[in-house]
Amino acid sequence: MKRIAVVTGAAGGMGRAIVDRLIEDGLHVVGVDLNAPAVLGMSADLSDFTPEVCDLTDAEAIFDLFDRITRRFGGVDALVNNAGTCFMSDFPDISADELDRQMAVNFSSAFHCCQQAVKAMAGRAGVRKIVNISSNGAYNFDVFDPPHYRASKAAMDTLTKDLARRYARDKIACNSIAPAMTQTPLFNVLTAEVLDRAISAMPHGHAMQPEQIAAWVGFLISPAGDVSSGNVIILNQGRDVR
Ligand SMILES: NC(=O)c1ccc[n+]([C@@H]2O[C@H](COP(=O)([O-])OP(=O)(O)OC[C@H]3O[C@@H](n4cnc5c(N)ncnc54)[C@H](O)[C@@H]3O)[C@@H](O)[C@H]2O)c1
Repeated sequence: MKRIAVVTGAAGGMGRAIVDRLIEDGLHVVGVDLNAPAVLGMSADLSDFTPEVCDLTDAEAIFDLFDRITRRFGGVDALVNNAGTCFMSDFPDISADELDRQMAVNFSSAFHCCQQAVKAMAGRAGVRKIVNISSNGAYNFDVFDPPHYRASKAAMDTLTKDLARRYARDKIACNSIAPAMTQTPLFNVLTAEVLDRAISAMPHGHAMQPEQIAAWVGFLISPAGDVSSGNVIILNQGRDVR
């Protein structure tokens, strides 16, 4: 029986790479995304993949999603909270609506998925895994990230630590991966000038690739990752070492 992984934002740049990695590692992946044509289309070239269309800013829809997954597969072994975006209005001119949407897409979605996932993980064998895709933006204040984006990811990392502590004896491990510039469609939110400056600050002279981040997610979800919980793993080619 294959282990079941739920990956949110599955149709995006990082999400697709994580889906591919976990399938290659022998899991069955339930890929969740708001973008229906993109996530449904992934079934055409993937085996061991179940697409789910869901707006993760809707807590009730998340409850229904995990209910469907549990009825179909009997439970969940891994959750990757990867869905997210970066709204680019800058302080102090950030509307209340944009702040709410930023927190809803990046943080509340992950919070609600964790609430349902820990229930779906109950009674499953081995160490079950939650991996939250955070961002270097929560820690590096030289780069462009606006404050509501930073705060949404910092909140996520605090949730990571709480869940790691809370569920250690239940063998649910929870870690964050916080990447810097990774080449995905999310680059489109940046002007060419901001993008060039951010990429030239990367020590290797180029952005990271989604497959490189996905390999770390795969490692955490593999048996080698059983002993890690409560960590925020920064991936940035060594950019911020002082
Ligand atoms: N690309 C980077 O440089 C970078 C750096 C640090 C962190 N991150 C984080 O990585 C994660 C993945 O981003 P990406 O770069 O692959 O971006 P992306 O835009 O390619 O993918 C994001 C995916 O999330 C989905 N999504 C957005 N809102 C959703 C919602 N409400 N419900 C369901 N799905 C939704 C989108 O449809 C999309 O498929 C994000 O959390 C992002 O903050 C990215």
